[in-house]
Amino acid sequence: MRIVVLGLGYLGATHAACMAELGHEVLGIEVISEKRAQLAAGEVPFYEPGLPDLLKRHIESGRLRVSGSYTEAAEFADVFFIAVGTPQKKGEYSADLSYVNAAVEELVPLLTRDSLILGKSTVPVGTAQALTERADELAKDIVVEIAWNPEFLREGFAVEDTLHPDRIVLGVFPGGNAEEISRQLYSSMIDEEIPFIVTDPPTAELVKTSANAFLATKISFINAIAEVCDAAGADVRAIADAIGYDARIGRRFLNAGLGFGGGCLPKDIRAFMARAGELGAAEALTFLREVDNVNMRRRTRIVELAREVCSGTLLGKRIAILGAAFKPESDDVRDSPALNVAGQIQLQGASVSVYDPKAMDNSRKLFPTLDYATSAIEACGSADAVLLLTEWPEFVNVDPEMLRKVVRQQNIIDGRMCLDRDAWESVGWTYRT
Ligand code: UDX
Repeated sequence: MRIVVLGLGYLGATHAACMAELGHEVLGIEVISEKRAQLAAGEVPFYEPGLPDLLKRHIESGRLRVSGSYTEAAEFADVFFIAVGTPQKKGEYSADLSYVNAAVEELVPLLTRDSLILGKSTVPVGTAQALTERADELAKDIVVEIAWNPEFLREGFAVEDTLHPDRIVLGVFPGGNAEEISRQLYSSMIDEEIPFIVTDPPTAELVKTSANAFLATKISFINAIAEVCDAAGADVRAIADAIGYDARIGRRFLNAGLGFGGGCLPKDIRAFMARAGELGAAEALTFLREVDNVNMRRRTRIVELAREVCSGTLLGKRIAILGAAFKPESDDVRDSPALNVAGQIQLQGASVSVYDPKAMDNSRKLFPTLDYATSAIEACGSADAVLLLTEWPEFVNVDPEMLRKVVRQQNIIDGRMCLDRDAWESVGWTYRT
């Protein structure tokens, strides 16, 4: 089938390449010309394992093309995916829908045949309804159907998650063709017996928001338990392992530590609270405020811990920060807990040296005033404390004996609870989590 993907960021570029992989003819629309040029040359402008190969293969085969023209998009196909960003509004909790709205405003007046718009972006409940009303106003003697098909991909596993999702969710208004068309689009996945859930648009929108709210809650739950463990002298990792054996609870997303960041969970729980407030259901989600609070306290706590191991002051101290991305296997630094901690420590007068295997360029752009090292060892040179804040394998497997030789003080703060405490303590490190 012929399809258009509007927006070629993490979500859209992955979706476009994966739809080509499924055998469809895809036109990707990206308005930023620099990004467009890179993608058209088969280069991925961010780090996502497996995506460069897939993209290159389908650019070369001609099954995937990139353009900046909505006119070309309108001519190319009758099925359009919206994959543009929905960031947090500046100074507010709610989601900024300007890119989603702009896509519909620009596309619909150009359409000359009946069309289907499938939303993939994470949006507040009610968005598909509002967009449908607007599309009806803009459409010229044609029917433009809007349905919502949320995406659950994780950065770092985006290709795998898109080609082999846990489930496909589709929210359709009655009387349209969205279900039939989507069944054709995803037929190979449906044949693999991946659950295909057809519901109404508000439910589909809320499936996505609820999933992210649940994941955020799970992380903050274990981090709240970690706070109690600190006070009681108990081991939160052992608790996570023990409760995780209960199949009703499950061990995944129970890793305590520095908490969640990134372009999704933090802004999605905030947008969810804001939307619930607009709907008069604010009370139902007050617990998410606490989820957010617990999460932000993790960052402050690590800064305090660093100060504590540096004899009560960070002024004039050298701090090594291992990790800048919001999680491993990503170069994304949006709302990165690691960079946030690095910034706070610098504000307290320390000199901070940061190293990340993939996120250096993005970090420099966001936080130009931090020092950036070219390796973990270099970052740790003469450090008074080493903070492991993103659990990249190269940090988890670092040799404590080797690192010992370059630091000034053997203080290691394991912000992701991923190191072998005994191995570090046995060669003289003071280990804190
Ligand atoms: C998330 C959802 O997982 C995905 O389904 C949705 O489509 C987009 O948002 P992503 O932002 O890529 O995906 O990252 P995820 O793997 O969920 O991790 C989010 C954050 O939580 C990271 O900062 C990670 O370090 C943190 N985390 C995760 C924990 O602190 N503890 C855990 O146990 C798991």
